[in-house]
Amino acid sequence: MSQKTKVVVTRQLNGAAQTLLESHHELEIVQWNSEKPAPRPWLLQNAPGASGLLVMLSDTIDAALLETCTPTLKTIASFSVGTDHITLPLLKTHNIRLGYTPTALTSAVADTAIMLTLMAQRRAGEAVASVKAGEWPAMPWAPQLLTGPQIAGCTVGFVGFGRIGQAVLKRFVGFGVRRAVYLTSRPGEVAKVDYFDVLGGKAGIEAVPARGWEDLGRESDVVVLGCALTESTRHFVGREFLALMKRTAVLVNVARGPVVDTEALVEALREGRIFGAGLDVVEGEPNVPADHPLLKEPRCVLLPHIGSATIETREQMAEESVRNLLAGLSGEAMVNEVEL
Ligand code: DGY
Repeated sequence: MSQKTKVVVTRQLNGAAQTLLESHHELEIVQWNSEKPAPRPWLLQNAPGASGLLVMLSDTIDAALLETCTPTLKTIASFSVGTDHITLPLLKTHNIRLGYTPTALTSAVADTAIMLTLMAQRRAGEAVASVKAGEWPAMPWAPQLLTGPQIAGCTVGFVGFGRIGQAVLKRFVGFGVRRAVYLTSRPGEVAKVDYFDVLGGKAGIEAVPARGWEDLGRESDVVVLGCALTESTRHFVGREFLALMKRTAVLVNVARGPVVDTEALVEALREGRIFGAGLDVVEGEPNVPADHPLLKEPRCVLLPHIGSATIETREQMAEESVRNLLAGLSGEAMVNEVEL
């Protein structure tokens, strides 16, 4: 019988992370060696007897899965900042530690939020599509061609104002954003105003708590969703919220798809009740067929969940995930551990 400690890894990892994992000869590594998600039956079949799991946000870690591998399972390392794919209370019950990668991807996701804001405001999706369709000759430069709202002078409303939201604001200061309001479940983690003072002296802007979600919806020219998906944020942006938004406002989602009610968003875009949307995530992803209603909305830019997809970030996420897995197995401190 093998004396080795079994770990299950649900994806191919990059070179450095894989080398680190394989340097631990005490481990029996059972790995789904592909860029594609591990099928659920593969995970259910291989989890029994595992002491550690290294999983992706596409793996659902629920009661059915945990039933197959408790009591051997000691630790899970998730290659993600989001943990909504994991039933957290069950980990506490079974005394299973959970590592994640919240610090590795802040810059990459914040950059994506800026990109999506500008794409939505400046109608980049429509513009690229029109050039690709050969429409440029018939639609030459014109004073009103593809105009959209300008970022300078905007008020930005943040739903979720943790690491990512604050990093987005830091970048927005350089674009001349005028004001920032936020909703957060962790007000103690909001840095003081001088944190945003990237241009030095008086160039920083003050971020203030919104008086409520209604005010945030009414006042913002850009709404950035950067919150965790929980029961209280599911469909946070629905008909009521969208009805409050300005006609010139854009919605940016770098959080999780279900924070937005897709049907309500499609309606709002179709009726011109908001200016546009920049989404990195969407309900039901990755099952987004080419005839998805959002794709028919010219003012909607939809990316396939690539917020953290820089080479450097993904390398760091992989390495931190392996380190978290190893630390969880040996009882040492993780790079980042979820407080359960
Ligand atoms: C995460 O890690 O949760 C992100 O959504 C990945 O981009």
